[in-house]
This record gives sequence, structure tokens and C-alpha cells, in this order.
Amino acid sequence: MKYDVLIIGSGAAGLTAALALAEHKKVLVLAKGGLNTGSTAWAQGGIAAVLDAGDTFDNHIHDTMRAGAGLNRQETVEFVIERAPRSIERLVELGVPFNQDGLDGKGGDLHLTREGGHSHRRIVHVNDATGWAVQEALLKAAEANPNITMLAGRACVDLITGRNAEDYSGSGRVWGAYALNQETGEVETYTATATILAAGGAGRVYQFSTAPRGATGDGIAMAWRAGARVSNMEMMQFHPTCLYNLEVKNFLITEAVRGEGGHLLHPETGHRFMADYDPERMELAPRDVVARAIDDQIKRYGLDYVHLDISHETPEFVTGHFPTIHEKLMGLGIDMTKGPIPVVPAQHYTCGGVLVGLDARTDLPGLWAAGEVTESGLHGANRLASNSLLECFVFGEAAARDILGRWDELLTPPDIKEWDESRVTDSDEEVVVKQNWTEIRRFMWNYVGIVRTTKRLERARNRIRMLTEEVEDYYGHFRVTTDLIELRNLLQAAELIVNSALERHESRGLHYTLDYPETADVARDTVLVP
Ligand code: FAD
Ligand code: SIN
Repeated sequence: MKYDVLIIGSGAAGLTAALALAEHKKVLVLAKGGLNTGSTAWAQGGIAAVLDAGDTFDNHIHDTMRAGAGLNRQETVEFVIERAPRSIERLVELGVPFNQDGLDGKGGDLHLTREGGHSHRRIVHVNDATGWAVQEALLKAAEANPNITMLAGRACVDLITGRNAEDYSGSGRVWGAYALNQETGEVETYTATATILAAGGAGRVYQFSTAPRGATGDGIAMAWRAGARVSNMEMMQFHPTCLYNLEVKNFLITEAVRGEGGHLLHPETGHRFMADYDPERMELAPRDVVARAIDDQIKRYGLDYVHLDISHETPEFVTGHFPTIHEKLMGLGIDMTKGPIPVVPAQHYTCGGVLVGLDARTDLPGLWAAGEVTESGLHGANRLASNSLLECFVFGEAAARDILGRWDELLTPPDIKEWDESRVTDSDEEVVVKQNWTEIRRFMWNYVGIVRTTKRLERARNRIRMLTEEVEDYYGHFRVTTDLIELRNLLQAAELIVNSALERHESRGLHYTLDYPETADVARDTVLVP
């Protein structure tokens, strides 16, 4: 099947690019699982943009660089932040019902909430379920556009390059992707003149993560296998406040709870412990600082969790700001208007990824990338809260603009070989896949978590080597399934994270190692070359 542009991923980055391209081109969007099962739909807090009269671009740029511990690329930070207000305007035009100021919530100005690391109120939001509203509005616009075709239930296996052409070429030029039809089990060939990777992050490489089930690093792994460089993969962000509950393992409690006055407390003494770690910024220090403080409290006092408490505010204030979280917690027997919420840190965001420039181009001709799958230079060593949806809008648009601007130079795809299944059979050992999944996620949590050491990283690397042999052997012999595709990618992502972490001989932002506790004078990206 041939389209002008193939987009892998139907989240904020993919659909923003699709809508911008569809004014001129025929676009195909593929999604693994449903069209709304990526992280976008799960976003709670909101989107950062300078909209308040007392705020400036310089403030937002400064906060982003400070949170990113100087590893950000300033030109990217400026590029994104200066385009934020226009991105919000476009979402308003698409019908996203952002909360407004005023007693009735209809005051005319957008209501701005606050999150850690931000010096000003600058987060626009739809209650505490911003992502759901954004995903719905984007999907509605894409569905109504005759130039956009969206196919759910397509798990891309690998990018198609010149190596897959009938007339072989080793150029690495990307011409689309092979995708598993998750209903029929067949691998289909999708070719296009241009391909945009918008496949999200790799959070599920960790045992505890706020990310959805499909965040298995597929995009990063596919790009790496095709020959693209990836950068700063050691910078995995841990959100400080994931609900601690033995049944519900990945429910986020938005940072906006702290932004609106929530306190972090020792669960036994009630001590507001952030005073011991960052007395100036307290609960609103950047995420790496708060997550490390909680991790320290848990380890130091042998706790299972700490408390997040906003019950000192009125019930109307709490339920008015956080209706979704309040309802979810009530269903679990926790009333956040009357008492504290038990929380732990959990993996939340992949700051590293496929290296892109301001035009969203990757190293590979024919391949652009946007959103969490990328390392654009915006987040540096630690993403500032609510800057990631923003990155999706700005870079989704940048990819579309660059493709349209260069269209006349782009060639149409050559004939591509169909997926070859002649030498594989159906697996009779699905249990191996499941077992390996669990093993990776557990050792990544234990050895490559919030606080690292070289010894633990090396241990993880040895395990990854053994598992890679096993998984590649399995992949070579059996027909692909979604679980196998994800396991292979998860393992690839884990290897990239560990190798990057071993290359960084300092502690900076999210990468904290007991063997190199100091921060080097010069900030350098960890760029891995395939
Ligand atoms: P996603 O929205 O994750 O979409 C990925 C897409 O790729 C999906 O359609 C998926 O099906 C598809 N895909 C993946 N693999 C394949 C494959 N092999 N083949 C085909 N398709 C594939 N950020 C903020 O800025 N503000 C917030 O308030 C906020 N809250 C968050 C709350 C939670 C719980 C989480 C997990 C994240 C939050 N984030 C927030 C981060 C933000 O949601 C994500 O970074 C952002 O939505 C990523 O968008 P994306 O388009 O890059 O990817
Ligand atoms: C949150 O609501 O705390 C998540 C915000 C983000 O990840 O940017």
C-alpha cells in the first residue's frame, strides 16, 4: 500500500503532523493497539506555555534549562518555547476545552496551574485529564479529514530501507515500515515517500512506570536498527508521585497536586521532608530532586511509600481541581479531601531518543521523528513538567513543514520485498517471552533506577547480553507476535539505556551514580552510533 507520508503513531506528535500534512498530501497513520492507547491520552497536568502577563519566554527558557541541568540545546529550547502560545491557540481552534479563570470557570482567560520547576503559573489544562481531551480533539479532526487514513491494530516491526528493495541499496534511505496486523497475524508492507516516527517512549522497560502498556521503545529500537543515532538514553525520568497500591500499579497523581499546595510527608512522623533536601523550592523542585528525596526517605526509613497530602485545602478546591483523581481514589477507598495519598516514584518519561534537528529530520534520509521517541535537545538531563506535549505539537508541525518544503526533492518508493515468513513457524513457547519481559523490567528497576552504580549497570549489561542471544534466536525461528516485537524492542531500549549510563562518568539531572557523584564542568550528550 503506497501513501505520500506514513506516520507511525497516533498520539499528539503523530496526529499534529498528520493534520498539518493533510492540507496537501495523502497521509496514513498506523497505531499499535487502539488509536488512543499511547501516553497522550493519559496526560494529566497539562501543557506549558507563556500566557500570563507577568511571565516571559526568557523565564520559561531559564526554567527548562535549569531543570535539564544544562544538557539542553538552547536553540531547541527557544524554538519550542516561542512556538508554545501558537500551539495552544491551535488546540483551542480544534475545540480542546481548556479550563478558564473565574468563579464559574468561564472567565475568558485560560486558567494556568503550576508544576515543579516552573517559576510561574503557566500550565494550561483540562481539569486533571488534559491528555484525554487533547487526544479526542486531534482524533476528531483527523477522522474528519479525507486525506488522512488511520489504521489501528498495526504493530510496526521494522522500518523499510533500501536494503528491503527488490533492487538492493545499502543507502539506509527509509521507505516506510513492515507492520504486524494484530488481528490477522499477517505482516503487511506500507511504503511511503516520507516516514514520520511518532511511536512514543520506552517507559515499560521498567517494572514500575506510569506509561501505558505499549510504551516499549519500538520507535527508538526500529530507528536504531535502521542506522539512526540515539542520544541521552540514560536520562529516564521518574515521576515522584505514582499511587502506591498493590492492585493499581501505574496510576499517576499529577504534579499539579503539589503545584496547588500539596505537601510530601513522612507517613509516620508527618515531617514535611522536602525541607531537608531543597528548602527553597520544597515540593516544587524539579522531578529528579523530588524523586531522589522520596527514594532516599523510603530507603533510609524502610518505608513502602510516602504521603502526598492536600487535605488542608477545602473539599471544593480539591474536587474542583482534581475530579478524575478524586473519583479514581474514592473507588480505591482513599478520600484525598480528608487524608493523604500513599505515593512512590515510578518511571514516567523517556528524555533520550532518536536524534533530531529543528527540522525533525533524523540521520536517515526519508525518516523524520517527533515527540517522546526523539531527543531534540529540549529536555536535556531532566524534562521540565508539561514540556513534552508541547514538544509533540511543535515538532509534529516542524516535521510536516520540512517534508512539504522539500517535497520536490523526495523520490517515490522503489519496489519493496514482501515480509518473508518462509523460514519461521508458530511459537510453542509463549511463556519464554512473558518470562523475559518480567525479568528485564525487574532488573532495570533494581539495577538502572533512580540511584545507580557502575557495578549494577554492568550486571544489567551482562543480563541483557544473555537475553539478547536468546531473544534473537527466538525471533529468527518463530512468526512475530506483538509480545515478541515488544520484547525485542524492550531489550534493545534497555541496552541503549545501560550503555549510555555506563558512558556518562558524572551525575547530572536524572542520571545519578554513586561512583561519579560530581557534575562535570561541561555538559555533553551521550550519543550512541549504531
Ligand atoms: P504517544 O502519545 O505515546 O503515542 C505513541 C503512538 O505510537 C501510539 O499511537 C502507539 O500506538 C504508537 N506505536 C508505538 N509503537 C508502535 C509500533 N510498533 N507500531 C505502530 N504504532 C506504534 N506530558 C505533558 O506535557 N503534560 C502532562 O500533563 C503529562 N502527563 C503525563 C501523564 C502520564 C500518566 C504519562 C504516562 C505521561 C504524561 N506526559 C505528560 C508525557 C506525555 O503524555 C507524552 O510524552 C506524550 O503524550 C507523548 O506523545 P507521543 O505522540 O510522542 O507518543
Ligand atoms: C503530571 O501531571 O504530573 C505530569 C506532567 C508531565 O509529565 O509533564
